[in-house]
Amino acid sequence: DRIGAGRSSFTRQQAPLGLGHAVACARDIVGNEPFAVILPDMIMKANPGCLKQMIDVYNSHGGNVIASEAAHEDELHRYGVLDLHGHENNVARVAMMVEKPAKGLAPSNQIISGRYILQPEIFEALDVAKPGTGGEIQLTDAMISLLRNQAFHAVEYKGKTFDCGDKV
Ligand code: G1P
Repeated sequence: DRIGAGRSSFTRQQAPLGLGHAVACARDIVGNEPFAVILPDMIMKANPGCLKQMIDVYNSHGGNVIASEAAHEDELHRYGVLDLHGHENNVARVAMMVEKPAKGLAPSNQIISGRYILQPEIFEALDVAKPGTGGEIQLTDAMISLLRNQAFHAVEYKGKTFDCGDKV
């Protein structure tokens, strides 16, 4: 829009069928363009902001970009966990990801931090995604199927995360 106030559109997920299903609900609003997913239960204190750091990586690498951060071994089972290679500073290529790995089975200590820049082909992957961890349609599973054809980079963003999915 021409004016800074911009424009908002809303959709509602009518049943709690998982994050992947929630993202798919926005398909008609997003259309055929790359877009950002911001999970509001992860609050990031960062300067520049986490998404700005990701957009900078997107502008140089293209493809799909995921925010990541190191987590303690005891917490890895609560998150999507990344298997990374080819590190350049705080950016690495995603080789694989695992949604909520069982204890001892996480491929690294780098978790998916609730910010994504995704290509619209993710919607086709979500269309055919089967229920995964927790019986939910997982965004992580759709990203894994896109990994065959598209690059994913993780940005270990500089800042601090407050995860409101935890009571403390
Ligand atoms: C979701 C994602 C997970 C990610 C997490 C970040 O899980 O499925 O990969 O690490 O958000 O908050 P949820 O918190 O919805 O269980």
